[in-house]
Amino acid sequence: MKRIEFHDREQEMKEFMDILNSEPSLITFVYGPINSGKTALISHLIEQLPEGYTPFYINLRGRFVTGYEDFLNVLFEIDESGVTNNVGEYATSILKDLKILSGIPIPINLFEQIFDKKNKSKDMFRYIERFFVEMSAKRVPVMIIDELQVIGDMKIDGVLIYKLFNFFVRLTKELHLAHVFVITSDSLFIEQVYSEAVLSGRCRYLLVDDFDRETAAAFLEKHDFTADEKRMAWEYCGGKPVCLVELINYEKREEKLREVLRIRRGQIDQRIGILKDVRKKILFEEEEVEITYDNVMKTLKRFSENDSYEYVRITPDLTYLIKENILFADPANGIIKPQSRLDLLAIREILRRGE
Ligand SMILES: Nc1ncnc2c1ncn2[C@@H]1O[C@H](COP(=O)(O)OP(=O)(O)O)[C@@H](O)[C@H]1O
Ligand SMILES: [Mg+2]
Repeated sequence: MKRIEFHDREQEMKEFMDILNSEPSLITFVYGPINSGKTALISHLIEQLPEGYTPFYINLRGRFVTGYEDFLNVLFEIDESGVTNNVGEYATSILKDLKILSGIPIPINLFEQIFDKKNKSKDMFRYIERFFVEMSAKRVPVMIIDELQVIGDMKIDGVLIYKLFNFFVRLTKELHLAHVFVITSDSLFIEQVYSEAVLSGRCRYLLVDDFDRETAAAFLEKHDFTADEKRMAWEYCGGKPVCLVELINYEKREEKLREVLRIRRGQIDQRIGILKDVRKKILFEEEEVEITYDNVMKTLKRFSENDSYEYVRITPDLTYLIKENILFADPANGIIKPQSRLDLLAIREILRRGE
């Protein structure tokens, strides 16, 4: 495997820098289809962060968060050697030894105190706020939470996510204390956030989409792709970075592309085909709604001619197709499209076969 350098994202980086250069006042939701490069972009941003900012990067992907205890363990970086009650001194001392922090540092004794409390959320937010206040004399805290939807439905004394949103509003709009970036690939989650009254006027949305054609071509040029290979890569991968990276690492490129398309078509076939065999129900607005093969195919038919379409509302069929990672909803632009160019091609092959 070649080591592949980070490519472009100049426009997005500029947007991030503009946000960082102004006083924190809104929560920034970073969203986009699966594998569009959100995490890669945030990692790049963290590396490029100007002097004077301290990032706290918390990634919930692959973490099993089933209760508050797990969540506290993910949120905090427990400092076994630091026993103190003086958060001010602690914050100053920890900032001297600068590294990328994958959690909010906390002395073990204070962590245990929060852990033992009945009302954990109040105490954990109070600690983070104090820590940020203390450090903000020297540096601007930047809190980044990746794949936040993992705790989307977690309930303990009410829904955790709402408490978090309220806390983020406090850090940004009320106290102007820290920048908050929330990243997610889950478009149903973003869709819910988008229609959430608590957040209305208190957040902004930043789309990190697959590369456009020019950007993808420039990426492949760096790796000596011929004009023909570039055209073929765009036909199958579109601007999906992960797909382009895989192609760069491959010798027999055309063969590889046909193979990934065949595999993807098989997967989608399987996911849709089961609707013929079982009566599938999904939870929609807390009601069980039946999903039928015919309705799902009707929804997919919209892509026989178009790459995307404008939607008015998310129906149960759309919910199913989004949950299955076949379609992607962009609520800020009111658009539905397949998760990738490969998905679009697979859908079209399935539609053609059905005709
Ligand atoms: N700007 C980029 N330049 C080079 N490779 C990228 C870029 N963005 C993403 N990638 C590649 O695509 C992969 C998937 O991106 P990732 O950031 O994990 O997607 P997401 O977080 O949106 O699901 C990365 O591991 C990396 O190999
Ligand atoms: Mg990611």
